[in-house]
Amino acid sequence: MPQSKVTKEFIYGLPKAELHLHLEGTLEPELKLHLAQKNNIDIGQHTIEEVKAAYQFDSLTSFLKVYYPAMNVLQHTEDFCTLALDYLKKAKEHNIKYAELFFDPQAHTSRGVPIEAVINGYYEAAQQAREFGVEANLIMCFLRDMSAESAMETYLAALPYRSKFIGIGLDSDERDNPPQKFAQVFALAKKDGFHITMHCDIDQEGSIEHIRQALMDISVDRLDHGTNIVEDPSLVAYIKEKKIGLTCCPVSNSFVVDDMKGKEILELLHQGIQVTVNSDDPAYFQSYISDDLYSLAEAYELSREDVIQIVKNAFSISWISEEKKNGYLKMVDEYVASFE
Ligand code: ADE
Ligand code: ZN
Repeated sequence: MPQSKVTKEFIYGLPKAELHLHLEGTLEPELKLHLAQKNNIDIGQHTIEEVKAAYQFDSLTSFLKVYYPAMNVLQHTEDFCTLALDYLKKAKEHNIKYAELFFDPQAHTSRGVPIEAVINGYYEAAQQAREFGVEANLIMCFLRDMSAESAMETYLAALPYRSKFIGIGLDSDERDNPPQKFAQVFALAKKDGFHITMHCDIDQEGSIEHIRQALMDISVDRLDHGTNIVEDPSLVAYIKEKKIGLTCCPVSNSFVVDDMKGKEILELLHQGIQVTVNSDDPAYFQSYISDDLYSLAEAYELSREDVIQIVKNAFSISWISEEKKNGYLKMVDEYVASFE
């Protein structure tokens, strides 16, 4: 049977779930300049063109060097709320129905912003988004290049707001910062009932060992990136059996390792692994979720069935009730049927 062609229109209109997006990575140059002016912060750039010109990176490390200083413009509860709300409005345009959003409290508390400003601002935006049809939950991440003690302190400081986030993640620079370093705080979070996930970035030193630690020692519910797992068939069999999904970000990959890793993503998909496609830091990689899906579909000639499976996987591995999952999956089926 000939495979059906995937069009841009089909991809953009599909009901979607976004599972790998850093709220701080949605800081568009326009909002960055606006907040810099409002909060009287000298960011060294004065025009959109200058801000865009500073967005130069070719590795995870060089990306993070641009990424963290940019966050200085975020100072008050309402700044965090504006950032997240601007993103959630874009999410609506991309037909995102459900999103689980990462945020990095230590990137703000380390420069004197109270943790409640961060959590309350982001949470308020998520509440407002429900009114225009986007459901969102928050995942609090620890910066793995900070200490395990700092992660624990952050976790304890966030606990009074525990009803405002549903999961715990781990991001930033993976080099020399393996999952094991954070075993204690993740064990506590798991015991407290949070869902847990971790970045296992692309082609890192010790990638397979880090993936093994995340899966076996930490018992993560998902892996963020993690496509290097394809190198170890026994770990692939493990995540297949446990139904542990991967949140892949092809356009982000093309920036930090100069390869979308589409071959690996497709290989895993066709082995029955629940891979998903996400946008990571869309303001920096100029690619929101539909753009990521379309770029991957174009470059690797995905079939319509591949695209539908990827989109369904995201709802399936999300951290919502079975009832809600089934409702969203039905929306996808209805959309596909209406598109015939
Ligand atoms: N923070 C934002 N984007 C990230 C990525 N791709 N890897 C690790 N930390 C990040
Ligand atoms: Zn990420």
